[in-house]
Amino acid sequence: MKGKIKKIGVFTSGGDSPGMNAAIRSVVRSCAYMKIECMGIYRGYQGMIEGDFKPMDARSVNNIINKGGTILKSARCTDFHTKEGRQKAYDQLQAAGIDGLVVIGGDGSFTGALIFHKEFKVPIIGIPGTIDNDIFGTTYTLGFDTALNTVVEVIDKIRDTASSHNRLFFVEVMGRDVGHIALNAGVGAGAEEILIPEENLGLERLLDSLKRSKLSGKSSSIVVVAEGDKTGKNVFELKEYVEKHLPIYDCRVSVLGHMQRGGSPSCFDRVLASRMGVKAVEALIEGKTSLMVGIQDNKITLTPISKAIKGHTKIDKELLRVSDIMTV
Ligand code: F6P
Repeated sequence: MKGKIKKIGVFTSGGDSPGMNAAIRSVVRSCAYMKIECMGIYRGYQGMIEGDFKPMDARSVNNIINKGGTILKSARCTDFHTKEGRQKAYDQLQAAGIDGLVVIGGDGSFTGALIFHKEFKVPIIGIPGTIDNDIFGTTYTLGFDTALNTVVEVIDKIRDTASSHNRLFFVEVMGRDVGHIALNAGVGAGAEEILIPEENLGLERLLDSLKRSKLSGKSSSIVVVAEGDKTGKNVFELKEYVEKHLPIYDCRVSVLGHMQRGGSPSCFDRVLASRMGVKAVEALIEGKTSLMVGIQDNKITLTPISKAIKGHTKIDKELLRVSDIMTV
């Protein structure tokens, strides 16, 4: 009901992503603007259980919009999987007078939020913060755009050395079990092949494509491999396989890893975070709960968390077609 919320707790949970700090800043400043108290909760659900809280005002979030990571830290928390753990978290919120929550994280964090709300009725709004871009109900999650730019920049560097030595590079990127980073960054970086879990075209097709590249005069190639790829071989085994079946190639592997999670957020992610933070606070003030803020057709929307955690955003078939055409 309107007017009920007096103090909002904000926290980050799960894998961090660039833009989380911009979202924290927006939530804190929206609270200040709307005369609601705000409490930072450190280390996600673990910090909630331990009462690791700090009051935050408009000045507490100076100079963080451009910083990767999260000033509130994040943590994976097994204690929160138990009712006892969630009870402790609730008791801590009650003691601190927190009567609404904004969780910035991915589907795992939202799942915990939904269970917590059902048990203790604390209103909670989610902001999708993950580089994977795998959450239903939003076209973009916070950090995805920045991660794409990081990956494209790194692949451009790899291409310099690949072309100097006429080499084939397998570049593994993050994304857990979806291929959005691989597909978008692969197209952006002009990769000759992109392997994603949503479309397993098989190893024979990979060999044929690489043969065609060689015959068409390409002296070096980049194959972007999503870490959740379903070829049945990890990126090192793929290298071995291609070297065995296509000895014309001198192959190398680069696993990009956690650098994709860092870096100063792009302007797109900063603006998206700022828009989402305002919407999250307004939703709580309007008495709403168990919803995730998203962006769809460039409009800021609210989607039931129960739906957001059930689906992944589908791979863009039109972009897949563009990718095939670009590797002619
Ligand atoms: O969900 C974000 C993500 O970076 C995934 O892309 C990756 O698979 C996972 O987190 C890595 O998790 P951790 O940081 O716990 O190793």
